[in-house]
Amino acid sequence: MAGTRTQADEAREAVVEAALAALDLDAKARLLSGQDMWTLPALPEIGLRSLVMSDGPIGVRGVRWTADDPSVALPSPTALAATWDPGLARRAGVLLAQEARRKGVHVLLAPTVNLHRSPLGGRHFEAYSEDPYLTGTIGAGYVNGVQSGGVGTTVKHFVANDAETDRFTVNNTVSERALRELYLAPFEIIVENAHPWGIMTAYNTVNGTTMSEHHYLVNEVLRGEWGFDGYNVSDWLAARSTKGAIEGGLDVAMPGPRTVYGEPLAQAVRDGDVAEAKVDDAVRNVLRLAARVGILQGAEPVVTEHPEAVDGIALAREIARRSFVLVRNEGALPLRPNGTVALIGAAARDARVLGGGSATVFPARIVSPLDGLTAALPEGALTYAVGADPNTELAVADKGFELRAVCRDAEGNVIGTGSTPNGQIQWMGSDLPEGVTHDTLHTVELTGTFTPRESGPHTFGIKGVGAFKLTIDGTTYYDDFQRPERDDPFITFFGAPVSRAQPELTAGEPVEVSLTHVVEFPEDIPLKAVAFTLTHQEPRRDPDELIAEAVEAARNADTAVVVVATTERVESEGFDRKDLTLPGRQDDLIRAVAAANPNTVVIVNSGSPVELPWREDVAAVLLSWFPGQEGGAALADVLTGAHEPGGRLPTTWGSLTDAPVSQVVPSNGELPYREGVFIGYRAWEKEGRTPSYPFGHGLGYTDWTYESVKVEGAVEGITVTVRVRNSGERAGREVVQVYVAPTEPDTDRPARLLAGFAGVEAGPGETVEAVVELPRRAFETWDETTNSWTSVKGSYEIQAARSISDRRLAATINV
Ligand code: BGC
Repeated sequence: MAGTRTQADEAREAVVEAALAALDLDAKARLLSGQDMWTLPALPEIGLRSLVMSDGPIGVRGVRWTADDPSVALPSPTALAATWDPGLARRAGVLLAQEARRKGVHVLLAPTVNLHRSPLGGRHFEAYSEDPYLTGTIGAGYVNGVQSGGVGTTVKHFVANDAETDRFTVNNTVSERALRELYLAPFEIIVENAHPWGIMTAYNTVNGTTMSEHHYLVNEVLRGEWGFDGYNVSDWLAARSTKGAIEGGLDVAMPGPRTVYGEPLAQAVRDGDVAEAKVDDAVRNVLRLAARVGILQGAEPVVTEHPEAVDGIALAREIARRSFVLVRNEGALPLRPNGTVALIGAAARDARVLGGGSATVFPARIVSPLDGLTAALPEGALTYAVGADPNTELAVADKGFELRAVCRDAEGNVIGTGSTPNGQIQWMGSDLPEGVTHDTLHTVELTGTFTPRESGPHTFGIKGVGAFKLTIDGTTYYDDFQRPERDDPFITFFGAPVSRAQPELTAGEPVEVSLTHVVEFPEDIPLKAVAFTLTHQEPRRDPDELIAEAVEAARNADTAVVVVATTERVESEGFDRKDLTLPGRQDDLIRAVAAANPNTVVIVNSGSPVELPWREDVAAVLLSWFPGQEGGAALADVLTGAHEPGGRLPTTWGSLTDAPVSQVVPSNGELPYREGVFIGYRAWEKEGRTPSYPFGHGLGYTDWTYESVKVEGAVEGITVTVRVRNSGERAGREVVQVYVAPTEPDTDRPARLLAGFAGVEAGPGETVEAVVELPRRAFETWDETTNSWTSVKGSYEIQAARSISDRRLAATINV
């Protein structure tokens, strides 16, 4: 299924076999175990260089996790899916491969193709959609793009890692039918259409077996049925048992140096617990990957000529504006030329351009909505007010700080220094300042000055675990041991900062700042890491005063543009959301501004759905997702009408109480997927509920008339041709969606499924055809009695639609 072998594949296989035969058991076992956070060991005896992996998915971080080493930051995966454009996803992939090559990375730990099962899923922003077909199609475009640049991908997290609560241990119980029709489907589509060189198995358990040991799903389904021939890497720290993992088809245990592979694996073979042939299978998969990316001597890489260079800044901006979903527009957009604009919202100035967790990268620059609109509008047309600040949490120490890191040994001698542009230290493995080793390092001091922008009580805090001493302007505010807030090995990276000092400071007057951390390298953590952050928050203003100020600004402008956002505490990794409300006073702010100015436009800067209780009271609502580093420039493009917003919802947006599936908290370690195949729009339709905005919905700046639909061919190859006319006044792009609906009511099947889509462009008055091929799967279900796909005979409506609930034309066929 995953494609036949070419001559070049055969030649690479021969090199792989020869290399494998030249390795002894210890070397083979060593190759399967990470040597540090991101790499595998080199094996010079066979001419193998060290393989480097890096997150993914919106940028390539590289092996150093620091603002010193910036990366292009694209819009969130939800945004990429909202473009409904696999070609654009492919171009994103080509750029990411270029970034990976620039940073010496061979394999990208992306894309994330888990599904939006519950809107509360913490990493929702990092996955594409609630629909497996849309997810698989966008994912395939992305993988094809990355790999066309000679860089591998690891499609993750295989499988059913759709929420974060107790992610290391939760047992998701999922019917075989739901697995096949929903959760496995995107992986299957990608294996078939993009031939990925890697897969990452998830932390969680599925039906009683942890995914890093899942013989059935990995060896039988993924490799056996689908023909996947890439490598399988564990999620970070997910591999727990030597025998279970190797027999369950896990090739690489990350991170190292201490894992269940390496020395314990060689020993297990010597003890007769594990067959050496299993080790050989895994080594073969890793060597094949190495050959493909060009780090195995004698093997020609898959890509010998790299694609043309991509302008990352331009592409980030293009994807952002193509992803913005205009869900409501009562004539407020595009903005009137020469009108005045009151821009409001903390995120309009300090934009939230990406989600938290392992997907975080450090862009070299960020264009906020304030920057973007200032550049686009005539002088004097724009005012700015904070309105409401949802960031109750302290942020990294970047604005006004000048800090460096001083490393000392146990006697207090300085042994090295490092830079830290934002008060954040994340030194993993051997990534230490020059002259510093884990054996000699005792303390790291962040030291330097802070010059306040405003007078008043400034809050300073610490993110991290262990002993800390915080001194500001000569006063020591904290000298104690900070404990983790919950049990997750990545808590030092993704946990919340704790406030530890609140001195009164004066604007413009610098003070000395020092935060010292006593480093520790606990035995039970396989990787030596130094990770902590100095955090800070400006003096807080009275929330009512901020709203009043914004209302005043709105009253004096032709249009009020309010940017509302979630925070890092709402959308990140390692935890799920508790509700879908906008944090802080943002809902109050919108209501107050809308009451003062009927021309209020709301920009929702969140990676995943939030509730919009005021949506009928405002003139326009635009969802901007996490728009990446160029988000503000793209926003100006769309608000001014230089470009139309191109996005369509990849996921249903509705309130939490109405959401048919929301459970993310396991009980007694188990999370039953009781809803079976009914998630997302499948569930909303089954329950007969109306969401705020349906799947597939999104407005542009022109109108479309659906003129005709023609269906040709039999179930093996059905082609749907939809003629649409641009009946508006400007050029535009339409996403023509095709849904397949069984005409006989059947409560066991979704009322309709997305079976295909195509983007078309046309000038005013022009007619164009969208041609969509329907996959066979649209007419099949997984039969649990025969354990196979069966086509369901009968009559179907083929519906051409603007969204799942705005269906314009239909034709009936019998299969
Ligand atoms: C995440 C993965 C990521 C890995 C390495 C894990 O915690 O679940 O998505 O690739 O860390 O950063």
